[in-house]
Amino acid sequence: MSETASINLGEKTYELPVITGTENEKAIDISKLRDQTGYITIDSGFKNTGSTKSAITYLDGEQGILKYRGYPIEVLAEKCSFLEVAYLLIYGDLPSQAALDEFQRELSYHALLHEDMKKFYDGFPSKAHPMGQLCSLVSSLTAFSPESLNPNPTQDDINLTVLKLLAKMPTIVSWIHKGSLGEPFIYPQNRLDYVSNFMHMTFGQVTHEIDIDPVVVDAMNKLLILHADHEQNCSTSTVRIVGSSECNLYASISAGISALWGPLHGGANQAVIEMLEKIKDDGGDTDKWIAKAKDKNDNFRLMGFGHRVYKNFDPRAKIIKKACDDILAKLGINDPVLEIAKRLEEAALSDPYFVERKLYPNVDFYSGIIYRALGFPTDMFTVLFALGRLPGWIAQWKEMRENKEPIGRPRQVYVGAVDRDFVEMAKR
Ligand code: CMC
Repeated sequence: MSETASINLGEKTYELPVITGTENEKAIDISKLRDQTGYITIDSGFKNTGSTKSAITYLDGEQGILKYRGYPIEVLAEKCSFLEVAYLLIYGDLPSQAALDEFQRELSYHALLHEDMKKFYDGFPSKAHPMGQLCSLVSSLTAFSPESLNPNPTQDDINLTVLKLLAKMPTIVSWIHKGSLGEPFIYPQNRLDYVSNFMHMTFGQVTHEIDIDPVVVDAMNKLLILHADHEQNCSTSTVRIVGSSECNLYASISAGISALWGPLHGGANQAVIEMLEKIKDDGGDTDKWIAKAKDKNDNFRLMGFGHRVYKNFDPRAKIIKKACDDILAKLGINDPVLEIAKRLEEAALSDPYFVERKLYPNVDFYSGIIYRALGFPTDMFTVLFALGRLPGWIAQWKEMRENKEPIGRPRQVYVGAVDRDFVEMAKR
């Protein structure tokens, strides 16, 4: 007999179906609860609420497990390129060599931006934050792709939009960087693979060819893979909920980029480096900053620590910490904030406050140190997170549309005033 959950309301008992996922995750299906009982559930921050059934990413926060389409993140980060992982997330399987070559060829074909888009770049002040530019520029792609506006797109329309977005995102991101430096834009090169092409457009010069260090490309591939999807987090849920109104993919992703920007989400990678710099400039007393993080009257938090779902360790942080040591050694860089990061981590991991609350370093704790070593300015870090997360957002948007999910529309419990008497302006 299938499992059910009972709920008692007054004299009545209601049986609710229980759903079991392929990794044995359990959920009580409350989709008919209001119709049957007149009650809703409330769960601020959706800490216990599943919004969908998804076949893309599995994570177990207690065990520190993360898998994309059934493959452990450790294996994918070690053996795959970012493009292979993007293909896996979006189309469901790892590509053959022929399929990957064709995917790369199609992305190269679409990598150019319409020349009119340069006018948008000209409109931003040089100090405009890259994340603000990114969400505007991604949304503006709709203007050049009218086929994306159809609320009921054909499969071919969706495929074209997916390819265009994946292809143009590295160009958009690298041009934001070039724009902030006042340097001329570097055009994409078809002979280069996805990540090498991105590095070429970001760090290349019109005056001469640059060598793209394979060590740097390798590190970048790894970082992008580690960020590629993370099931129903704040930005991904935003992409799905915006898309559920039959809003086009570009605008849905643009909304996801905005959600990612905040320091409690993707913006944490920028906030971590700023925090480490501040601690360094303040004399490097990590105990003082640990005490501040624990003080409930102080709004300082240890950025890069804690996670809504990981309550043991973040498997991405483990891979990144090692990658950070490797890349700094290979590039011969001695970053003084790395020492502070290590001391801070050590102190927090043995402090009862952090141990009791199961607060561990997350993916953002060490990623900024690597981005910095690769030559990116701090305010570009969250944009790089977005570049990595793009295939995950696309896969989640596609899944939501293919499953024909209903428009997202939570309910609420109203706690405001009841029936007030209106008073004319003259008497208020
Ligand atoms: N420093 C100090 N205390 C913390 C921290 C922290 N970084 N994170 C959580 N706590 C405390 C919090 O004060 C609370 O204590 P108490 O139970 O005494 O009130 C307890 O731990 C639980 O925290 P919470 O805010 O209820 O947990 P949450 O699941 O709502 O928030 C989080 C998760 C990631 C927003 C939070 O841990 C945080 O703000 N971390 C710093 C920002 C950060 O690194 N974000 C990146 C997340 S990973 C990238 C991504 O995928 O977005």
